[in-house]
Amino acid sequence: MRTRTQVGIVGAGPSGLLLSHLLHLQGVASVIVENRSRDYVEHRVRAGVLEQAAVDLLKEAGVGERMVREGLVHNGIELRFGGRGHRIDFPSLTGGRAITVYGQQEVVKDLIAARLAAGGEIVFEAADVGVHGIDTDTPLIRYRKDGSEHEVSCAIVAGCDGFHGVCRQAIPDHAQHVFERTYPFAWLGILAQAAPSHEELIYAYHDRGFALFSMRSPEITRLYLQVAPDEDIADWPDERIWQELHTRLETDDGWRLNEGPVLEKGITPMRSFVCEKMQHGRLFLAGDAAHIVPPTGAKGMNLAVADIHVLTRALTAFFKSGRGDLLATYDATCLKRVWRAEHFSWWMTSMLHRFPDDDGFQQRLQRSQLDYTVGSRAAAASLAENYVGLPFA
Ligand code: APR
Ligand code: PHB
Repeated sequence: MRTRTQVGIVGAGPSGLLLSHLLHLQGVASVIVENRSRDYVEHRVRAGVLEQAAVDLLKEAGVGERMVREGLVHNGIELRFGGRGHRIDFPSLTGGRAITVYGQQEVVKDLIAARLAAGGEIVFEAADVGVHGIDTDTPLIRYRKDGSEHEVSCAIVAGCDGFHGVCRQAIPDHAQHVFERTYPFAWLGILAQAAPSHEELIYAYHDRGFALFSMRSPEITRLYLQVAPDEDIADWPDERIWQELHTRLETDDGWRLNEGPVLEKGITPMRSFVCEKMQHGRLFLAGDAAHIVPPTGAKGMNLAVADIHVLTRALTAFFKSGRGDLLATYDATCLKRVWRAEHFSWWMTSMLHRFPDDDGFQQRLQRSQLDYTVGSRAAAASLAENYVGLPFA
């Protein structure tokens, strides 16, 4: 069975769904092919911080209504170390910008609803997805569903299938250059049925390792602990997790972390990864398919939104005016922002985590950098400007 469209999109995460929606607003047709079920992608717990520019884009695209209602606008974060908190105020340091805490799966739900309401096509539970003919003008996405073979024939393929997807592998090895760092730790994350015990996110630096206090709603707290990269979640019963969180987040003034039933827990590896090029022939990669950041800077979902903003503009010029120039510069445009976020995420990660082979040298550098960051307006402004995110290209 063969379907024809203008843009064939692999993956129904934030990247693929937003691309399909923005293209639709420009009158460009697309089909999304996703290997998981709708229920699975709508309930996968991932990132939760949206930069100002991402919020503005979702609102302008008409998919921000629930985000405006339920999202939590945060005007700052706290850096916690040495037994006390130090607030970084975003609006005063960035000319009025802020972030919004709204779960990635909520963005995904809103985008799926918008696509389906507009008659958009999303194929869920597609098996053996593959991209073919990206060096020709008529590339294809092939997959199997319900026992039969399907083909989406298109002019452009968008690889929005995340870090473990198939699209990046379609670019020949000689045409891509990969840059990668893995970190000697991972994050153990929990979602708890507990009212947040602080209004803003807390990034805690502690002798025993990093901890992060975040939230999803007035009833749900999200928390993370730095653990060893090969840590087994089975060794972390809830009591051990809470005890470690209390220790690392503790302050001298007796602040208490609210506890509640643990709804979900998991371990995430920490990695920096960039694939240059992000384009080959008629294939364009976006989001996690092309780059990964460690979550410390809260940049993952925002980079995906920024790529899609650039790709939509380039594809619209291509389909509406026959112009290929913006497609030709797609990855150079994206990579500038990607590398800024890669640096910021690496910097936050390096400043806040305990490194296993440190003889004390790095710890002293970290304390000096933390003191400087909260003590100097220029240093605080640099963190704030990167955290709320630079304007889109
Ligand atoms: N075929 C079809 N779909 C696939 C395939 C495949 N072979 N492999 C993966 N997918 C799907 C995944 O199931 C997922 O729904 O592609 C989608 C990719 O979504 P994400 O991983 O969320 O990536 P992206 O949309 O780029 O969003 C980036 O995700 O991990 C977070 O921190 C990251 O917030 C950032 C965001
Ligand atoms: C989250 O709420 O999941 C979260 C917040 C900030 C981060 C990373 C994750 O830096």
